[in-house]
Amino acid sequence: MAPPYPPSAAAAAAARLLLFSVLIAASFSCSAAAAGDVPRALTLDSVRESLIRQEDSIVFSLLERAMHRRNSAAYDSSFLPPASLAEFFVRQSEIISAKAGRYLNPEEVPFFPDYLPEPLVHPHSPPQVLLHPASATVNVSKEIWRIYTREMVALFTEEGDDGDHGSTVASDLVLLQALSRRIHYGRFVAEVKFRDAPDDYIPLIKSKDRVGLMELLTFADVEESVKRRVEKKAMLFGQNVTLDDKAGRNNTGGRGKYKVDPEVAARIYGEWVIPLTKLVQVEYLLRRLH
Ligand SMILES: *[C@@H]1O[C@H](CO)[C@@H](O)[C@H](O)[C@H]1NC(C)=O
Ligand SMILES: *[C@@H]1O[C@H](CO)[C@@H](O)[C@H](O)[C@H]1NC(C)=O
Ligand SMILES: *[C@@H]1O[C@H](CO)[C@@H](O)[C@H](O)[C@H]1NC(C)=O
Repeated sequence: MAPPYPPSAAAAAAARLLLFSVLIAASFSCSAAAAGDVPRALTLDSVRESLIRQEDSIVFSLLERAMHRRNSAAYDSSFLPPASLAEFFVRQSEIISAKAGRYLNPEEVPFFPDYLPEPLVHPHSPPQVLLHPASATVNVSKEIWRIYTREMVALFTEEGDDGDHGSTVASDLVLLQALSRRIHYGRFVAEVKFRDAPDDYIPLIKSKDRVGLMELLTFADVEESVKRRVEKKAMLFGQNVTLDDKAGRNNTGGRGKYKVDPEVAARIYGEWVIPLTKLVQVEYLLRRLH
């Protein structure tokens, strides 16, 4: 199906660019539809399923990034002061994503939203409004960026520099986006919880009781099982698969047999992903009655 081309795209170069954008947009919307990223109707089950599926993306992206050394130079501001190579790469990627209409999807949150161009493509149908408008822009992108570049990368990569900074920042982008999507999914989590039991939340929201909201959103046993599941996924996905039975069996036991230490994957969830998701939920709820 041919998407609507704006009339200004007559020039051949512009048309080529547009076709390129359309192809990207098409691949995004296909993968989103296949994975059920934006549930038709938000339910606790659909939200939970999405969170579990997003763990797979995060664990795979961790493994990809861990194939490179730490490559710290990719994160210092010497590339295009004050931007690092990583920041340059993410910004430029977000410009293309914006043109392709990626950020029309409320699940996609850019790290650098200032000065992003308007989409060149238009959605076939108006985007569904699933989030409360006053809360829809709640985000912790700056915190994710800071934690990722200053603390997280050092946890799961080997020290040193392999010189391949281009591939490194490309895998940073994928991992950062997976983390951001998962953490900002907290907005959908908060919305569905609020709709489920508004009377539990309204008094706390009215009294701006952050601590009370945080308590209401915290289920220690659920958080623990999320961490254990992430750990298990890092074990399963991070093995070398061989057709040799013996080698396969050998791979499954002991430490140091995995591409990313499964405990580190669980720690990334426990220290950052889960707390930041809850922070997003609290901030979302605080604006829910505006
Ligand atoms: C994230 O929040 C900041 C303010 O805290 C805001 O300027 C920015 O536009 C927000 N990002 C998005 C994508 O909504
Ligand atoms: C299992 O791994 C250990 C050390 O990594 C190695 O010494 C041993 O030979 C391996 N055994 C099999 C059956 O491959
Ligand atoms: C997987 O196999 C490669 C190549 O044989 C080896 O260098 C690497 O250490 C193995 N990784 C794990 C986690 O067993």
